[in-house]
Amino acid sequence: MKIAIIGTGYVGLVTAVGLAELGHQVVGVDQNSDKIKLLNQGRSPFYEPQLARLLKKNLLKKKLSFNCLLKKSVNLADFIFICVGTPPQQDGSADLTAVKEVATAIGRDAKKGKVVVTKSTVPVGTGKILQKILGRKNGRQFSTVSCPEFLREGRAIFDFFHPDRLVVGADERQTALKVMAVFKKIKTKKIITSRETAELIKYAANAFLATKISFINEIANLCEKVGADVDQVAGGVGADKRINPYFLKAGLGYGGSCFPKDVRALKQLSGGHGYFFRLLKSVIEVNNLQKKRFFEKIKSGVGNLRGKTVAVLGLAFKNDTDDTRESAGIALIKKIKKEGAKVKVYDPQAMVNARAELDETVIFCDSELKALRGADALIIATEWERFKHLPWPRVKKLMKKPVIFDGKNLLDKNLLEKLKFKYWGVGK
Ligand SMILES: NC(=O)c1ccc[n+]([C@@H]2O[C@H](COP(=O)([O-])OP(=O)(O)OC[C@H]3O[C@@H](n4cnc5c(N)ncnc54)[C@H](O)[C@@H]3O)[C@@H](O)[C@H]2O)c1
Repeated sequence: MKIAIIGTGYVGLVTAVGLAELGHQVVGVDQNSDKIKLLNQGRSPFYEPQLARLLKKNLLKKKLSFNCLLKKSVNLADFIFICVGTPPQQDGSADLTAVKEVATAIGRDAKKGKVVVTKSTVPVGTGKILQKILGRKNGRQFSTVSCPEFLREGRAIFDFFHPDRLVVGADERQTALKVMAVFKKIKTKKIITSRETAELIKYAANAFLATKISFINEIANLCEKVGADVDQVAGGVGADKRINPYFLKAGLGYGGSCFPKDVRALKQLSGGHGYFFRLLKSVIEVNNLQKKRFFEKIKSGVGNLRGKTVAVLGLAFKNDTDDTRESAGIALIKKIKKEGAKVKVYDPQAMVNARAELDETVIFCDSELKALRGADALIIATEWERFKHLPWPRVKKLMKKPVIFDGKNLLDKNLLEKLKFKYWGVGK
């Protein structure tokens, strides 16, 4: 099938590469011409395991191409996937400007009605709005379909080929089946719903995962009061099949481009329909407090931060990605800097993105050990596997003071305490 993907960011590019790999003829369209240039050279604008290899492979096979030409691309396609961003507005609701702009351009430029699939995360009712914007063309109605994306950055290619489920929401079953046929080779649970239900499934899923994180963070805070270990509590709780062990990792609170914005957008959406979603208010509050609590822990552990040197390992909002959007580590660095400390940082993938968010007084180091040299404290802010395996006896000699604040409960507390590090985790 011929498919046009509008927006070649984390979701759009992974979808474009994945659909090409499934055998479809795919064109990726983006308004950012630098991105398109890079993509046509077979280079990914962001880090995602396996992505660069499949990108190059499908460009060579001519299954995949990229351009900035929306009109030409949508006219050659049977299906158009909208994958542009839906960032938060001041009040927390999703900004639909880019989605609406793309729909307007499709409605204006397509010579006949097409199937338009929304992969961007959009509030309930957006499909209906897009349907109106698109209208009819030469006697053929556009069909708007919701096909929310559930990929996890860092595992996005795996998730494309092995999703837990595919959700397609449409007004007519026939249209939903057409979209499901695009994913025929993917073996998973396939769920067909109304458009509104599909739109809500996405928000409900992210809000539930965020709720799990805030829940375990509250348990972690209680663990610190009663002398329990949150990782062991989570292990015992998560062994129950009704609960499962995922998203029960205590730490700095959730971040990234999706959870904070989607939880707020769902709360806002509920409010807009006259329903006050109490639970989400608490989920957000707990998440914000978690970051504050950790900062207070650092201040009470290090004392006055003025003049001290703090090493922060991890800038991405989580491991295996270079994405720094709503990164807890970056927020923490800004606070520490305000207190007058010198901050040295290292991340295996996210240095370029982090540089754009931090001022020039932050010292970017090209290895963990360089960041740690002369530091009064180490903060772990991203759960990169490689940080677990640092040569700790050497680290101890390099640091001015052997003090560790592990915001991800990543390191081996017992080992570090044996080596006479002062170790603070979360909930242990
Ligand atoms: N990143 C994730 O993990 C993830 C997971 C599931 C769902 N989502 C949702 O998917 C959507 C996209 O997220 P993302 O992380 O891929 O965003 P992104 O910012 O990485 O990518 C968006 C892309 O759209 C392009 N774009 C914007 N306006 C355009 C226009 N008018 N015409 C052409 N291109 C345009 C931008 O240049 C950019 O390349 C969001 O709604 C997000 O909530 C994201």
